[in-house]
Amino acid sequence: MTGSEKSAAITARKGTQRIAAITAYDYPTARLLDEGGADVLLVGDSVGMVVLGFPDTTHVTLDHMLHHIAAVARAKPAALIVGDLPIHTYDTPEQAVATARKLVAAGAEAVKLEGGVSHREIIRAIVADGIPFCGHLGMLPQSVLEEGGYKKKGKTPAQREALLADAHAVTDAGAFAVVLESVVPAVAAEVTAAIPIPTIGIGCGETTCDGEVTVVSDLVGSYPWFVPPFARVEADVAGEIRKAVKAYVERVRPSSSDH
Ligand code: KIV
Ligand code: NA
Repeated sequence: MTGSEKSAAITARKGTQRIAAITAYDYPTARLLDEGGADVLLVGDSVGMVVLGFPDTTHVTLDHMLHHIAAVARAKPAALIVGDLPIHTYDTPEQAVATARKLVAAGAEAVKLEGGVSHREIIRAIVADGIPFCGHLGMLPQSVLEEGGYKKKGKTPAQREALLADAHAVTDAGAFAVVLESVVPAVAAEVTAAIPIPTIGIGCGETTCDGEVTVVSDLVGSYPWFVPPFARVEADVAGEIRKAVKAYVERVRPSSSDH
């Protein structure tokens, strides 16, 4: 299936079957997640935080994204590969299209960027270029410095109105789906009911959206120093690594040896 076909199949799931999206940043993990049946592999700019060691996603560059998208694409997943446009690579429609084309050349089948009404022309330009587009609304991590932290969205009537307007804007601009991040559950449910494309939630409650997206390290427990409160941690990869390295070090460099 082409990226356009996969994206259209995701859109068609609205009201029929929920969507299980998960982030992926490297070849083996992408293969494992695809074998596990994930519908969407998101090469998110969260790679900057959970893989590259930066404090937030504002440090992520286009080269970082291309490197990780290419690794995920080598897994040739059945799942749809969505790549994030990193900060300051979509400030104009022309720049956004150029960036989106590079992500696609690296192996992305669809792209995502943060913003709604304010980004209508930018999204339209990407869609007009034939590149499947996923929206991202609610709490926008690339705006963390301007916002002075990660703030829940949809708490005030003004925020609720803005979110609905943003959701209609990305829909009208041609998005095949939209990520909702850290939106209060009642408003996430309202947005979900208001638009014909699937909403994919993170930190919005577990039943309010048409699907969920999870950061892979939150799911498998591979980044133990920070786990979001809403995460459902299903494995202890960090614990397994600590056990393995302890066994290895003890074998190579025994703490009490005879010689
Ligand atoms: O970068 C990312 O992982 C994301 C998800 C949290 C939606 O954008
Ligand atoms: Na992201």
